[in-house]
Amino acid sequence: MGEAKKLYIKTYGCQMNVYDSERMAEALGSSGYVSTDSPDDADMILLNTCHIREKAAEKVYSELGRFKGLKAARPDLKIGVAGCVAQAEGAEIMRRQPMVDLVVGPQSYHRLPEMEAKAGQGEKALDTDFPLEDKFEVLKQRPKASRGPTAFLTVQEGCDKFCAFCVVPYTRGAEVSRPAARVLDEARDLVERGVREITLLGQNVNAYHGPGPDGDDWSLARLIWALDKIDGLERIRFTTSHPNDMSDDLIAAHGECEKLMPYLHLPVQSGSDRILKRMNRSHTAESYIRLIERIRAARPDILISGDFIVGFPEETDQDFEDTMDLIRAVNYGQAFSFKYSTRPGTPAAERAQVDAAVADERLQRLQALITEQQRAIQDAMVGREVGVLFEKPGRMSGQMVGKSDYLHAVHVTDSRARAGEIHRVRILESGPNSLAGEVA
Ligand code: 5AD
Ligand code: SF4
Repeated sequence: MGEAKKLYIKTYGCQMNVYDSERMAEALGSSGYVSTDSPDDADMILLNTCHIREKAAEKVYSELGRFKGLKAARPDLKIGVAGCVAQAEGAEIMRRQPMVDLVVGPQSYHRLPEMEAKAGQGEKALDTDFPLEDKFEVLKQRPKASRGPTAFLTVQEGCDKFCAFCVVPYTRGAEVSRPAARVLDEARDLVERGVREITLLGQNVNAYHGPGPDGDDWSLARLIWALDKIDGLERIRFTTSHPNDMSDDLIAAHGECEKLMPYLHLPVQSGSDRILKRMNRSHTAESYIRLIERIRAARPDILISGDFIVGFPEETDQDFEDTMDLIRAVNYGQAFSFKYSTRPGTPAAERAQVDAAVADERLQRLQALITEQQRAIQDAMVGREVGVLFEKPGRMSGQMVGKSDYLHAVHVTDSRARAGEIHRVRILESGPNSLAGEVA
């Protein structure tokens, strides 16, 4: 064996891409690659791309352009595009940017070792299939390193909801749930390697309905209760959820399962029933607010997070005010908000678009309101005692940083707080991006 080759992966987009990037690194580990943090000394550069918003493909092409010098200096350097832009653009990427050696979609990256070998022969390697074999099972065989205290675990992929603005059902395909036994195996393996907190991932994670070891279809709540029994696993989270799949057993689990953290990301997108209908969301503002009430009845301190789109086609001032009213009614601890971005091939792309300046102004107002709520909820942590899972040293000497039960960043200066440990922490101060505390 020669010297290890170096792999640089740049990840865009959601946590599912973060998870996929880790799996790609593992897959290429068997081809002799180790990860590096810089493209400059890499033998392979992989862009794991996202297609959810604005000019995603254009951004990938301009990013690729930046590697031209590297490729000219080292013709052996392999350049690959993975993820949802790879899925959507396919061979077009190699036509427009001939220095790209590999294009691999989100469902076929377990074939990267074969693709890398092909590229090594000077051939182009393209795979945007939706193969029948389970990529996660193929990848399970690869060697694994010890790892930090938190991990993502994809349990469900794809989406059948077809919101009128969204490309996910096209790039990630139909909704598929992994068998529960495989998820549990992977979770146990993660815990053996040092993981204390697992975030279950899926484009529609609460629609999870994987076959259970007992032959029944398991809900996400059943999966969570089975994970709850794994010794050494201390915290469970999940994301992203759809309001329509917030089943009674999942709501109950938020009240009853101690390992399930009091944080829920539940996108609503809009507070206008007219717009929600045009978005094909099949819930109303009212039903969402009632749902939040039921979740809070089960777990009063739960921190609610959301996603919003402003400037969806045909959105009027009144529609936008309805969204602002919904935000006031819910009171968010966290939210992600976006200006509507036209995705070719989706139903909303054909409709009357909102003026860009109007959308900008709405986004600013919405974000100001969310920031206010977020701050108030974060500031209200001062004086409280919360659980914190410490992850790594902070910027100041002696400092350790971690996440609270509510997913706030917390730092303490205390030698008792070590990475991978959970301590009760009294919150003393609320800063711009984090909380300061002391081990209780
Ligand atoms: N334009 C703007 N935002 C979008 N999202 C999805 N598609 C679009 C789009 N075309 C947002 C939604 C979703 C989040 C992941 O991205 O709010 O919940
Ligand atoms: Fe996209 Fe809607 Fe599916 Fe979420 S539920 S992935 S927004 S289509």
